[in-house]
Amino acid sequence: MENIAPALLEWFYRNQRILPFRTDPSPYHVWLSEIMLQQTRVSAALPYYERFLAALPDIPALAACEEEKLHKLWEGLGYYSRVRNLQKAARIVCEEYGGELPADYDALRALPGIGDYTAGAIASISFGLAVPAVDGNVLRVFSRLYNDSGIITEPGVKKAFTARVMEHQPPEKAGDYNQALMELGALVCLPNGAPLCGQCPLAALCAARAAGTMLELPRKAAPKARRVEPVTVVLAEDAEGRFLLQQRPGKGLLAGLWQPLLWEGEALSAGEVLARLEELGLGCAGAEALPEAKHIFSHIEWRMKGYAVRVGTVYAPAGCVWASREQMQDEYTLPGAFKAYRKRMGL
Ligand code: ADE
Repeated sequence: MENIAPALLEWFYRNQRILPFRTDPSPYHVWLSEIMLQQTRVSAALPYYERFLAALPDIPALAACEEEKLHKLWEGLGYYSRVRNLQKAARIVCEEYGGELPADYDALRALPGIGDYTAGAIASISFGLAVPAVDGNVLRVFSRLYNDSGIITEPGVKKAFTARVMEHQPPEKAGDYNQALMELGALVCLPNGAPLCGQCPLAALCAARAAGTMLELPRKAAPKARRVEPVTVVLAEDAEGRFLLQQRPGKGLLAGLWQPLLWEGEALSAGEVLARLEELGLGCAGAEALPEAKHIFSHIEWRMKGYAVRVGTVYAPAGCVWASREQMQDEYTLPGAFKAYRKRMGL
């Protein structure tokens, strides 16, 4: 196949979105943006990106940030292990590299939360190193360009696609080339049966377009089935309108974040909820049933039964706090799993 870089780069320089991490592509900026963009669309991530950098303008500031504040900066983005790893890596960077990311693919790749893709993005975009940065966008573009029905979720296929990506990469423009491929995937070579082939600078070279197979590509393995878990959520409110929050354990799902009273693995009836509350020293007259809700994590699906109760006491059980609306807004991070119950908590 003819080299795609000239047509691709020309298209990129005319059509790329103006994004803050492109205007100022320092290693820290590219790192943060790529971590945010892993599970989040560009338009949704941008306000978080700006706010995060305003609060934590460099890697030493990130390393020193207090946990509650760090969670608050990420609230709404989800997948909180991303930001915990970001801070872990920042601390290593401060200890081992004087607070600046190393200009070395393997050293970047060794940091917590930095995989092949993120290491490649930082190394090529910020440091100009000739390495690949292959994300889902790039795999989609190449599956179509070569009309290759390999299953892109398989490591061997990803490796073979990456080799092709590198065959076309101009070493002196590695960062632009990598971003141009991502941008083409994000703006033109769209997933879910909607590629805009009429706008594509590579249409004349595209084997899938010639064969008419664009809509069948890329092929992916069927997603793994999620474990469905019943959960009971109790919004306990005191006379002052505060809600009882408990902090989740420091390890595992939603580590360290705050939640209403919760029983995982159990779908409790109103009577059972009252008995559990009694055991905690939170006697109350009745429990109002709230609408059921569900939340999908990567491996688990929560099916939540909700209740609201009024509690007369100011006593908070171990590991719990009574939080005012202001405190829930400014201090305690409630994960998105409880979105359905936020309104009822005045949020
Ligand atoms: N998606 C993730 N990273 C991106 C980038 N640098 N440019 C365009 N889309 C992206």
